[in-house]
Amino acid sequence: MNIRNTTRNLGSVALCALALWTGLPGGASAETETGDRPEIYVPRAGGSAAFNKYGCITCHMGDGRGGQNEGGYGADLRVTKLTEKELGDVITNGRAGKGMPSFKGIIDDETVGVLAKYIKEDLRLK
Ligand code: HEC
Repeated sequence: MNIRNTTRNLGSVALCALALWTGLPGGASAETETGDRPEIYVPRAGGSAAFNKYGCITCHMGDGRGGQNEGGYGADLRVTKLTEKELGDVITNGRAGKGMPSFKGIIDDETVGVLAKYIKEDLRLK
């Protein structure tokens, strides 16, 4: 689902650079918060797809508004005050006893980052 995996499968760094600069209008490159290595996101498509795929929508609804469910009250992600990093931490570790499951070992770090970005940029009420 992401550029890096696709290009890794093609087995060529040169192709990766080529794809980044030419073929993919939605692709964007951004530094991580720590700035240690570049991350490649395709936030719009990847974020909503992952939000559906991992069942976030069952508790947070498609637009992130949340609501009552078996686990508790799904947070309204549109108005979250958490930073992107904190969002990632909640997604990875969950909130034990509060109905937010841990996705550790289920969602890889990169996709967690895509989800956090999706919440901050696409679900957020503007
Ligand atoms: C079984 C229901 C359920 C599922 C599935 C679920 N969540 Fe949650 N989530 C919750 C509940 C309930 C809370 C509120 C926890 C609390 O009260 O602190 C929450 C809180 C959060 C928060 C914290 C928001 C804040 O501002 O404090 C984030 C971020 C979040 N969820 C993201 C996700 C993502 C992304 C997914 C999918 C990968 C997901 N959740 C799947 C129930 C769920």
